[in-house]
Amino acid sequence: MKEIKRYMITSALPYANGPIHIGHLAGVYIPADIYVRYLRMRGRDVVWVCGSDEHGVPITIKARREGVSPQEIVDRYHAIIKESFQQLGISFDIYSRTTSETHRKTASDFFLTLYNKGVFTEATTMQYYDEEAKTFLADRYITGTCPRCHSEGAYGDQCEKCGSTLSPTELIDPKSAITGSTPVMRETTHWYLPLDRYEEFLRHWILDGHKEWKTNVYGQCKSWLDGGLQPRAVSRDLDWGIPVPVEGAEGKVLYVWFDAPIGYISATKELRPDWEKYWKDEGTKLVHFIGKDNIVFHCIVFPTMLHAHGDYILPENVPANEFLNLEGDKISTSRNWAVWLNEYLEDLPGKQDVLRYVLCANAPETKDNDFTWKDFQARNNNELVAVLGNFVNRALVLTAKYYDKAVPAAGELTDYDRETLAELPRIKSAIEEAIENYRFREALREAMNIARLGNKYLADTEPWKTVKTDPEQVKTILNIALQITANLSIAIEPFMPFTAEKITKMLAVERFGWDDLGRTDLIAPGHRLGEAELLFEKIEDSVIEAQLAKLEAAKKANAAAAAASHAEPQKAEISFEEFDRMDIRVGTILSAEKMPKTKKLMRLTVDTGIDRREIVSGIAEYFTPEELVGRQVMVLVNLAPRELKGVLSRGMLLMTEDAEGKLILISPATPVPNGTQVG
Ligand code: MF3
Ligand code: ZN
Repeated sequence: MKEIKRYMITSALPYANGPIHIGHLAGVYIPADIYVRYLRMRGRDVVWVCGSDEHGVPITIKARREGVSPQEIVDRYHAIIKESFQQLGISFDIYSRTTSETHRKTASDFFLTLYNKGVFTEATTMQYYDEEAKTFLADRYITGTCPRCHSEGAYGDQCEKCGSTLSPTELIDPKSAITGSTPVMRETTHWYLPLDRYEEFLRHWILDGHKEWKTNVYGQCKSWLDGGLQPRAVSRDLDWGIPVPVEGAEGKVLYVWFDAPIGYISATKELRPDWEKYWKDEGTKLVHFIGKDNIVFHCIVFPTMLHAHGDYILPENVPANEFLNLEGDKISTSRNWAVWLNEYLEDLPGKQDVLRYVLCANAPETKDNDFTWKDFQARNNNELVAVLGNFVNRALVLTAKYYDKAVPAAGELTDYDRETLAELPRIKSAIEEAIENYRFREALREAMNIARLGNKYLADTEPWKTVKTDPEQVKTILNIALQITANLSIAIEPFMPFTAEKITKMLAVERFGWDDLGRTDLIAPGHRLGEAELLFEKIEDSVIEAQLAKLEAAKKANAAAAAASHAEPQKAEISFEEFDRMDIRVGTILSAEKMPKTKKLMRLTVDTGIDRREIVSGIAEYFTPEELVGRQVMVLVNLAPRELKGVLSRGMLLMTEDAEGKLILISPATPVPNGTQVG
């Protein structure tokens, strides 16, 4: 085993097309933050980089939909994401972005190096092209009917209805999402990273060399490799991204998954003049924190790029997590089924550590997991309030009460005292072992065991009773309780940094280092404590109900949007002149009678302001004559007359229908004179 001189930690660069949600946090950023805070506490040389992933098609689609530039979209979300990470105490050394100049240059140079080494292959293929917009269409920009389930609105890469993976040429009746026109096939040339040529290298490096990787990660790599690797295009026809830096590549940019991971290197460059040793020296341990959907890019594609380049080290580990669900449903940005970090911070101010705690305790480390607000409340009330907060509060309040905040000296220890204190170094090793192997839930449970230990110690020794029978003994008890409290502040710091800081403030001590954990002389006799305050407060049902109501509202909005998406496609375009030929007037229904021997037809007399005329309308199933007489309606008065069941109908009432198909008459919202024109 080679010696580890320094750590280079990365966490997936979030797309700057929406805020961060709890799934991102539990899967990537909270575990990485715990790991890095732990390494820093141990005095290790560590650099942790992150930033916004600002290229790619989804950002351009969002921009187009909102009628703004992609730059505006990424500026907006970069600011929101950066701010909310910071508020949650996610302690990146730098949070950069892939639209930075350093990154453009770094990614460009990286591409050129591979290009000049002859690493890429080139291929010309046929791709969909929108002749109106004069652009090639990315898979996401093509919609059509799904060849599998025949539902409409499937994308060129996927049908969201049935979940099938598609290729654009499979879509039935493909349409450009930009102009709605039917795209044509056109030739285009791209550069490819020939992964197939690196299979041997990858097999050896991962399958033989990294059997220690998490089973979900190793397993995914193995199945990719066993399935046979294909060359991957590293360029795209798009006007948003880093231009391909070679001649004859006008209109082409680097594929977002080519430039984004290079963003880790660019960010390190921006942070440190001595960045090279973090990326090129074998003494560096490189670890990528990611979610499971990023495994292939971080274990197969990016390492191949690094290897082909030749100057760089490879990751030591890629501890990818599974997914976190929300209230039993997959988190979805487009369906707004998420708890957004920026909203959480506003709705539950001061509760950063509660979220950090719950998301770590419930992290999807080995399988998908579910976040529920009930569980959030229970963990806060039963664990943070009842165990952690309660213990620390009792230790401090009793010391204040009996000794006016001056720490008492311990006398002779009992066997039980000694056994209790002996737990601390054991817990220290257990936490270290767990964190170093990326088992953060277990590490947190061990850290919380210090609070449980303290609670049990106080419950067993009952200083509030002993104070009457053996006051000397109580000095020992509270001294020990305070040493446990100090140890607790160290052990929880990587997980709950805000709470750790509060405890040290209450103890009126400087922050400890990791190596102090396990010591029983952290708080000196005679030292005066600070003010005791509550670390956590109970979360009431109303708070949880408000959050559940928010989710309920999202569900309703989705259902409405889904109903609306069943709308008929738009009819062929008409000119203003064509529209203007229609003469629509407000009129009042003067009489109404159902026509004999018909089910639907109603014979109406309408005052159109121009005249009184008869109109036959198919509304008899939905209205009684009484409901109609006196009502104002909109009438298309210059529609060619038509005979219906022997009555000449001169005009048509404007109507719509509700979701169940029931007819609804269109009326002016306030009464207007008959004959008033509509248009
Ligand atoms: N933006 C990607 C995602 O959210 C992650 C990019 S990670 C990087 O899935 F390595 F490419 F930066
Ligand atoms: Zn389908």
